[in-house]
Amino acid sequence: MFGLVRKRHPYELLASELANTIQHQLTRLNLAYREKRDGVEVIHRVEFVEPLKASPGVIEIEVDLSRLPRGVDVAALRDARVLETLTAACKYPVKFVKKASGAGSWFVVEITAMSKIPRMVKLDSMRQPAKAPPLIIPIGVGENKQQRWEDLRTLPHLLIAGATGTGKSVMVNAVLCQLIKRFDESVLQLWLVDLKGGMELSYYERLPHVKTLVTKSPELPAMLLDLQVEMDRRTTLLRERESRDLDAYNAQMPRARRLPYIVLVVDEIANAMLNKSRVNLDGQKMSVAQATEALLADLAARARATGIHLIISTQRPSVDVVTGLIKANFPCRIAFGTASEIDSRVIVDDSGAHGKRDGRMLFRRNIDLIELQAPFLSDSEVKATVKRVLSGEYEPEPVKTAEDVARDEIGYLLALSESKAGRRFTARELYKLSDGLIARARIEQLAARLEQEKIVHRKMGPFGRSIAVPAREWQKIYKPCALRPVPCEKPEKPAPPMPLEEEEPTLAPSIMAFLSEVEHEHLSPDP
Ligand SMILES: Nc1ncnc2c1ncn2[C@@H]1O[C@H](COP(=O)(O)OP(=O)(O)OP(=O)(O)O)[C@@H](O)[C@H]1O
Ligand SMILES: [Mg+2]
Repeated sequence: MFGLVRKRHPYELLASELANTIQHQLTRLNLAYREKRDGVEVIHRVEFVEPLKASPGVIEIEVDLSRLPRGVDVAALRDARVLETLTAACKYPVKFVKKASGAGSWFVVEITAMSKIPRMVKLDSMRQPAKAPPLIIPIGVGENKQQRWEDLRTLPHLLIAGATGTGKSVMVNAVLCQLIKRFDESVLQLWLVDLKGGMELSYYERLPHVKTLVTKSPELPAMLLDLQVEMDRRTTLLRERESRDLDAYNAQMPRARRLPYIVLVVDEIANAMLNKSRVNLDGQKMSVAQATEALLADLAARARATGIHLIISTQRPSVDVVTGLIKANFPCRIAFGTASEIDSRVIVDDSGAHGKRDGRMLFRRNIDLIELQAPFLSDSEVKATVKRVLSGEYEPEPVKTAEDVARDEIGYLLALSESKAGRRFTARELYKLSDGLIARARIEQLAARLEQEKIVHRKMGPFGRSIAVPAREWQKIYKPCALRPVPCEKPEKPAPPMPLEEEEPTLAPSIMAFLSEVEHEHLSPDP
């Protein structure tokens, strides 16, 4: 007899427990009808249709619409404040979903642990990492307030997709504002495409960084062709200098002849990818869509080494917009909320972005997939940032190539060795003296380079290296330099604009003191 009693699955038990909680909370919120019968209060509550649907991830509780208490309507049940109360009481997110006409309405309880990802992240609250590479951009904040920043040079391009109103333009603005605050037009050039009528990117139009702003899709292929020509010109220049990439090329060039990074931003690529009108491109007739796809794919495949990076966004993640060719060349993609699981899969090969909103995203970088909250900034903050950039309130950072950084570090270490280490050049000692500013392995690496350049003696057994030439000699090659961690806070007071000419490194007072000691030593006759 007992064997016939069906054992209820734990999720079914949880479902009825949650239904009770929801019913109780609705009654508490006065979503019930109370009447007195024979002096006794009788309460008519919101009732649910049995059986409740329960699966491991989600519990659906159908409201019995035919027996709603008097004075309670469906609109009241899906009020945002009501859902917040239910979410807090159930300890799981509760949504209200109206199914297709006549099929009823459900409270949907998602049985997933409440996300520890913040619901709102202001761009201002994200702190750029110390020693940030030039094209570092904010992506978002994940669990345990982990900030995610990425170097656009290594991404090397970014595709942003999601349904309308989910956060794409805010993201593009966050990236652009981060970049324009740091660099002037000698370091960063922007090619902007706003195919939503110029409403989204028009704020930036007056910036000196902006090379061009295209707002009509038939003009896009010609612009991409110009960018391709620029890419080819740069490729030739790099080849002539035997440089692997733009940084290596710039490291060999005086500051005035260095090439800026180029970032192409396209807001709403779908308008071009679905435009079948024909354009004449370099003597060939083809549709705007074909030309755009072919040029974008070529740029994405070849532009990285020449310092050209693409950020494109679309609200139509269908396969005719995010084509195989484009997807293959954009290994880094952001999916903001999508209208369907299929759209989410098209973007990040995972269904998780379905239904997300307000800047919540899935970020895919190659095989890595992570959920993040994108940084937010309002339109007025964008306008204010552009205004401050135009009035020179931010101090543009000089870009240091890897070679620039190495030279600074060498200048610092040699000066330190002269003043504080009796001209010994050992990694252990210099690491301590520099308060750990430069890692030991890095000092070893630089010492090996100096050994080859015959500026320090070869390492000999237990004695370690020492400087082999007088300070005057090495200073002809390396400038004594003060190293400081890169400031990552916003300057409290607006900094004056930097002169564009080659800048002398500024020296900290302590370094000045020991440099003058060094100089003094050299002026005094050798014993
Ligand atoms: N990171 C964010 N954090 C919180 N809310 C956000 C965030 N990003 C966007 N939102 C909210 O979503 C709204 C729409 O954002 P946005 O304009 O970026 O959408 P969109 O994806 O560009 O839409 P469309 O495709 O229509 O252009 C914003 O006004 C804001 O209220
Ligand atoms: Mg937009």
